[in-house]
Amino acid sequence: MFDTNPFHDLLGFLTPAIMQAYIVLMFLAVIGGTIIDTIHKKSAKYFFENAQKAQQSARRTVSGGEKASLAIATLTNEVLTSSEFCNPQRRMSHLLTMYGFIIFVVTTVTLIFGYPTPAEATPGILVTLWHIGALMVCVGGYWFWFFIRCDVNSEGKPWYKLVRADLFIVSLLATTSFALAWSFGHSYVFWGTLFFILFVTSSTVLFTTVLWSKFAHMFFKPAAAYQKKVTKADGSQENLPDLGELTDAELQAKYPDIPTYMGETPAYMGLGIKRESPNHY
Ligand code: HEM
Repeated sequence: MFDTNPFHDLLGFLTPAIMQAYIVLMFLAVIGGTIIDTIHKKSAKYFFENAQKAQQSARRTVSGGEKASLAIATLTNEVLTSSEFCNPQRRMSHLLTMYGFIIFVVTTVTLIFGYPTPAEATPGILVTLWHIGALMVCVGGYWFWFFIRCDVNSEGKPWYKLVRADLFIVSLLATTSFALAWSFGHSYVFWGTLFFILFVTSSTVLFTTVLWSKFAHMFFKPAAAYQKKVTKADGSQENLPDLGELTDAELQAKYPDIPTYMGETPAYMGLGIKRESPNHY
């Protein structure tokens, strides 16, 4: 099972051309959904206007070389190692989901385009990786769904309460779970057919609902993380004030309400919202 191409089982009723056409259609749906999303929410317009506004309040010019190193830092930190997550469990679950999904998508495309019929012997490692990718999404995704996400962990909502924002995670988990169920049950006609229909239905939902789901965050988040780094490097700081020591005379001269309300030597106020995990419900 872990070394036979699962898509070869479909050849009795689906041709390789149909499977390949489905992949192309899903690819176009993601591109189209992302473009329409960008136009509809005016996010690109807002993003560039905001970047221009930030440039006007820049205190120094960031050179091309510096921008390139910021882009590399974004790639190695925020993109490849999910460094934006402060909670180590959430970071680990995101890494599992992200790399699992990439492995699953790349191996699916390779199996369907590279080894369409049994005439091209499929390397067993590809099929194993397809299963591992799906399993990684399931482990990271169910961990997130049942234990980590704030609706459940911080707000005490039951895990089965669904809202539209869950479209991405639910269709993603359904896709990889039914893919695995189909692979395990394919030798039984009833179960094999049922799980295959559910697998295709959920993957169609995942790839055709980009406009309404969080799918496109994988394209937008890297751009936002890079832009944030630029605003720090050029000193514009998204028009936010410097965060200094409250006892600093220069800071107090700039913001005279600090000594007015808190005295000249304001006490240390503690960790604030970071002092403990937010799950008081
Ligand atoms: C294959 C690519 C990716 C997959 C499958 C993926 C998956 C996910 C999932 C399942 C969530 C939770 C969504 C929810 O709250 O329902 C999430 C959130 C998040 N992802 Fe990703 N992700 C990917 C790529 C990326 C990349 C490239 C970045 C950053 C550069 C990123 C940054 C984030 C952040 C910051 C959040 C939390 C923000 C939020 O909940 O809206 N992700 N991701």
